[in-house]
Amino acid sequence: MERFRFGHVSDMHLMFSGQPASEVTKKLMAAGGDSTGAYRRTLEELAAEGIDALIMTGDLCHEGSEDDYAALREMTEKYLPGVPVLAAMGNHDVRDAFRKGFLGDRYGGDHPYCDVMEFPDKGIRFIAIDSAWEKGLNGSIGDDQLDWLEGVIASAQPGTEDILMFHHPVCPMLVPFGMEMSPRMERIIRGGRFAALFSGHVHRICTSFAAGVLNIIGQSLAFDIEVSGRSCHYTTRGGYNMCEVDSEGELFIDSRIISPKGEIFHKKIF
Ligand SMILES: [Fe+2]
Repeated sequence: MERFRFGHVSDMHLMFSGQPASEVTKKLMAAGGDSTGAYRRTLEELAAEGIDALIMTGDLCHEGSEDDYAALREMTEKYLPGVPVLAAMGNHDVRDAFRKGFLGDRYGGDHPYCDVMEFPDKGIRFIAIDSAWEKGLNGSIGDDQLDWLEGVIASAQPGTEDILMFHHPVCPMLVPFGMEMSPRMERIIRGGRFAALFSGHVHRICTSFAAGVLNIIGQSLAFDIEVSGRSCHYTTRGGYNMCEVDSEGELFIDSRIISPKGEIFHKKIF
């Protein structure tokens, strides 16, 4: 396997129109949070170092319009021209707007979004499934998506390693925010050749093993949620992952902060 570098961004909650779409994003902006600026700085860093691909694990735009997703595509291509991008949907994404604005699909549609990004010469493949479709905040992967996933796994070229992406992490410790893995999904993952699973959703760095595979849970680019006991502190701190698969197939993750000053702007007890 050749060396392969990719960026992992999650939970950007971008609001290109500048209109905060919820109480939390309103408070974030009032506290000086700037998700668009954070995304631009991230793209600049990724472009300066050079990456082969970019992956996004959901909540790309915050309840965004077609124009928001088109702006996301435009900004990404401006800084990373020609770099392939694959996104998974989060509970704050709008599939019809994403399909029209980001993918340029004139028909759109609100059905689950699953897709593949392949690098046959590098022996690596990214697979996105839609954990936010059925249960929103809690996440689930239904049988239709698992049928599709089985077909994708069966089509793998010999020697290819897969990276599976979905928004909700699989981690019992993160209940009520983690996703429960069904016995069927566990069998499928154990039977595949997965190098790692990538998720987001909880807005902080966590890792777990799910069906024997490392589940890397990325921080949010827009705002962190720091947990202390049963209290959640929302802060303006945010970051992303620089990831590398070396020639031996070993995966290395470097978690980076793009907005280091963490101003608390919201608190919640769960
Ligand atoms: Fe999020």
